[in-house]
Amino acid sequence: MEKDRYLTFALTKGRLADKTLELFERVGIECREMEDKSTRKLIFVNEEMGLKFFLAKAPDVPTYVEYGVADIGVTGKDTIMEEGRRVFEVLDLKLGKCRMCVCGPEHAKELLEHHELIRVASKYPKIARDYFYNEKHQTVDIIKLNGSVELGPIVGLSDVIVDIVETGGTLKENGLMVLEEICPLSARMIVNQVSMRMENARIRQLVSDLRKVIDEKES
Ligand code: PRP
Repeated sequence: MEKDRYLTFALTKGRLADKTLELFERVGIECREMEDKSTRKLIFVNEEMGLKFFLAKAPDVPTYVEYGVADIGVTGKDTIMEEGRRVFEVLDLKLGKCRMCVCGPEHAKELLEHHELIRVASKYPKIARDYFYNEKHQTVDIIKLNGSVELGPIVGLSDVIVDIVETGGTLKENGLMVLEEICPLSARMIVNQVSMRMENARIRQLVSDLRKVIDEKES
């Protein structure tokens, strides 16, 4: 790999960063410093390979990439859609697979079918708006929440929610169900638009190596 300039990665702090690094290791990219789980450091360097990694909160990853302080980012498709930053999405890492769905109590099905003016609670107001306004052409009231969104229909704040469903356990335990599926989700690699041109060979090689490993894992 060319080493005259650092290639900088913004990773999503937590389990996704761990999984991403496991994948990176399989294509020969490693960062020893990051293996110490007790460290509170946020920036790590692999001098030999000319790589820099930093750990950010998911919604900030596309921001760092759009502004070019990171060439590459890895975060969830949900975050990428919600943030709507100008970045290139280049690879599906197929990690953290889940779905973005409209969920609620069974009786809310009818409200959706009849395009009623309903209240929708979500941590993802942009995704909810795009879905209802642009895909379904249904006018709704969107209420932004910051977590435990399932509470919305239970306590009567909203009719439905737009949220991530992985196992479906949270919905089930709270007497809710999937009413409509918006899209599948998983971790994606995003690239800064200028880096894509300036570091094209390096990035293309990385994407192609990773794709091979991901495909092997999937099959
Ligand atoms: C997410 C999501 C659902 C739950 C889905 O919440 O918002 O609540 O996980 O997973 P399941 O289908 O496997 O039950 P998270 O745990 O991130 O917490 P939050 O409610 O604070 O957003």
